[in-house]
Amino acid sequence: MDLQLSGKSVLVTASSKGLGRATALEYAREGARVTIASRNADHLEEAFEDIKRQTGASVHRVQLDVADAGSIAAAVRSAAEAHGGLHVLVTNAGGPPGGGFGDFIASGDAAWEAAFQSNLMSVIRLIREALPYMREGQGGRIVNISSVSIKQPIADLILSNVFRAGVYALTKSLATEYARDNILVNTVAPGRIATDRIRQLDERIASQKQLSLDAVEAQFLTAIPIGRYGTPEEFARSVVYLGSFANTYVTGQALLVDGGMVKSL
Ligand SMILES: NC(=O)c1ccc[n+]([C@@H]2O[C@H](COP(=O)([O-])OP(=O)(O)OC[C@H]3O[C@@H](n4cnc5c(N)ncnc54)[C@H](OP(=O)(O)O)[C@@H]3O)[C@@H](O)[C@H]2O)c1
Repeated sequence: MDLQLSGKSVLVTASSKGLGRATALEYAREGARVTIASRNADHLEEAFEDIKRQTGASVHRVQLDVADAGSIAAAVRSAAEAHGGLHVLVTNAGGPPGGGFGDFIASGDAAWEAAFQSNLMSVIRLIREALPYMREGQGGRIVNISSVSIKQPIADLILSNVFRAGVYALTKSLATEYARDNILVNTVAPGRIATDRIRQLDERIASQKQLSLDAVEAQFLTAIPIGRYGTPEEFARSVVYLGSFANTYVTGQALLVDGGMVKSL
């Protein structure tokens, strides 16, 4: 299948590592002109060189803190200037810290505000900045990376549970509003995909429960019918299809990439 991404300008945020980086790499493999963006300049440079080396694609990099409105506006502008407009936006951010219902009474406003800025307001701001370019280019594709917490709250991740639901609601609302502009908006929700973040979350549980890391993973695997964690590449392929111009009729949807973990209909 031709994903019709050749020469298209794609911005993937939070993309020096993990899911964002794998997604940027897949877009570059499809011949898109990709902009990667995250905070740490060294990590960004390393990802930039690696994607260029693996694909030979035209890659641009820009430092970005998704919690900062000015930084978002500058990054979207930079991507559009580097690659002649913006056809595809993949919104991604670092995940909120763990901390479960046991901490709720003690949780201060600062943690809620930080998660709101990084995991919901960033998506709103990125899309607001990107839409004028997409309208100018007669269409666009937006994929919001969220979490399976949109369907089933995750223990110990209340900040994710609350704000990811907002991302899903935003996805559906904007899909309705912008379909006539040929701008399709979807969300892709990872379950347990093997990245640094998942390892850190597993290590946290291991230390809390005095278990080995292998034992923690084994517990999660009992709930995953496919029987293993996913790879970032497997996740990225789902994002790239929904966020491609081969996708002409799927909008407002949430695709769970979770090996069958979530059981709700
Ligand atoms: N992996 C999974 O299975 C899974 C499951 C559910 C949800 N998620 C969510 O998916 C997202 C990506 O997860 P991941 O596993 O790929 O995480 P990861 O491996 O920790 O990578 C996070 C990436 O985000 C960047 N980042 C963090 N904070 C940022 C900020 N304020 N501004 C710009 N970039 C920022 C990091 O670079 P810098 O630190 O240099 O900025 C890094 O490139 C997270 O929100 C996570 O909660 C992942």
